[in-house]
Amino acid sequence: MRVYVLHGVNLDMLGRRDPAHYGSLTLPELEGKVREWAEALGLEVDCRQTNAESKYVEWLHEALDSADAVIVNPGAWTHYSYAIRDALELLQVPIVEVHLSNIEAREEFRRISVVRELAALTISGKGADGYREALEFLSEQ
Ligand code: DQA
Repeated sequence: MRVYVLHGVNLDMLGRRDPAHYGSLTLPELEGKVREWAEALGLEVDCRQTNAESKYVEWLHEALDSADAVIVNPGAWTHYSYAIRDALELLQVPIVEVHLSNIEAREEFRRISVVRELAALTISGKGADGYREALEFLSEQ
């Protein structure tokens, strides 16, 4: 099973963003853990990050023909990007939405996720472990 793990806007700044919300791992450290967990579960992962919404949408289009599942953390795009939502809607494979912080327990605007109803599972507020849970869930599909 080939899983795309797609990080969106500002997630390249992990390690410098508020550790109370996002933990202290940098994105390369987080992706390293994701690769280890995936390998242990027999999954192949392709981890990417971009600050360009159009690039993110293009990766989702690419996933149509290349991925068996997708893990998305679109960052702030989660809360308003109908373009990303529309691209996710094209996918026939399982989608897991992951957030490091608990988006339900923060500012009002973060409680809205325009992608949530397309996700087979949403994991929020579990830090890096949320990605392990997402991979475990996908390995059981
Ligand atoms: C985030 C939560 C979003 O509200 C925020 O804009 C992010 C990261 C998270 O992983 O907790 O950039 O998706």
